[in-house]
Order: sequence, then C-alpha cells, then structure tokens
Amino acid sequence: MSTHLTQADLPQADGQLPSLGLALERSPETVPTSPVARVKWLASPSSAAWLRQATDHAELVLIDHAHCERKAAGVALQLMFRYPSDQGLAAVLSPLAREELEHFELVLQLLQRRAMALRPLAAPPYGAGLAQSVRRREPERMLDSFLVAGLIEARSHERMALLAAHSPDPELRALYGDLLASEARHFGLYWLLAEERFSRPVLVERLGQLSVLEAGLLATLWGEARFHS
Ligand SMILES: [Fe+2]
Ligand SMILES: [Fe+2]
Repeated sequence: MSTHLTQADLPQADGQLPSLGLALERSPETVPTSPVARVKWLASPSSAAWLRQATDHAELVLIDHAHCERKAAGVALQLMFRYPSDQGLAAVLSPLAREELEHFELVLQLLQRRAMALRPLAAPPYGAGLAQSVRRREPERMLDSFLVAGLIEARSHERMALLAAHSPDPELRALYGDLLASEARHFGLYWLLAEERFSRPVLVERLGQLSVLEAGLLATLWGEARFHS
C-alpha cells in the first residue's frame, strides 16, 4: 500500500469537516471472513494480528480505552494551556476536552457495571514515540502537536470501527459503534486548526512524514493488548 499522501487524500478546503472516508479493503494479513477497515489518512491499516489480540483481551483493551479517553481530554487541555491567548484554539479544544471526558465517563460506567477496576496499565511505545516526533521550536511544535493528536484520533477511529464490527461482545460492539464517529470528527477538528494556521503544502508534507512514523510504531505488535499496541 502507498504511504504517500496526495492533495486528493486530504480534507477539502471548503470549511466542511472532513470525513475520514472509512473504506473497506483486504489487509495483506487478512482476518478470515472479514475485511479490515482502512482509513485513508493512515499510512497503513491495522493488522489482523492486532484485531485478534484486541478481541482476545477485550477487557484489557476496555480499561486501556478508558485511559485513552482521559488522555485525549488531557491533550486538548494541554494545548489550551500552552497557547492561552489563542481564542480560536480554545473555542475548539474546550468542547473537545469535554466530549472526551464524556467518553471517559461512558467507559468508566461500563467498567463499573462489570465490576472492573480502572487499574493503571503500562503504556505501549506508541504515545511516547509520537511525542518524540514533535519538534521543539515554534511554530513547528504547534503544527506537529495538531497532526500527532489528529493521527491518534484517526487511528482510534479505525480501531473502534474494527471492534464495532468484530468484537464478539454485543455491548462492546455497541459502545465502539457509538464512539467511532466522534473520533473521525476529532481528526477533522485538529486538521482544521492546523489548516487555519499553516499552508496546505506544509501540512501535506508533514502529515505524510508523521503518518509513516505513526504506522511504523504499530508495525510490530506490542506484547500486551492495548488500543494502540
Ligand atoms: Fe473520545
Ligand atoms: Fe477523540
């Protein structure tokens, strides 16, 4: 599969929120009887091995999912605090942070119904690897922060779509089905924040680099099941 992004792959510059264009296609390592979803902003689709790991350890992934929603709210807040005078940024990120906390609470309620604890989990290398790719100097730091946050949202959307289709647990299928559209919209929000502040060629080039790096971090399946293992 090509890892090269073209203008045609990117959201339209018409002020509309882009859809992530979930397309179904066979991954090289296919899940028998069911195609693996592909999101076009991602350099490569999640593997069948990840899907198998995640469905085999659904409760572990559910706990990790709660942590992911909590962290997504934290990322939005962190950006608001880093750029406190950017009103346009706050107008987008404040409701986004609230929405992520609502997702966190939904997952938390499910954990409570199942008498499961929100226990701490060791983090896979994914988040730290992406954080390391954020350049230190402004304005590159801001651009990279938007794109990295957006890629994580895009990957979450892709994986929720897979779990919504393939989880053997009907309650989990419903949960992921309810949440996955939000994650697609969140990628779009980070994309629009970037587009308002940076030129499209700069965005396209950097998203291309970061999406390859993001896919590379998931190329080797981590030993323990996580949302981003
Ligand atoms: Fe979320
Ligand atoms: Fe999100």
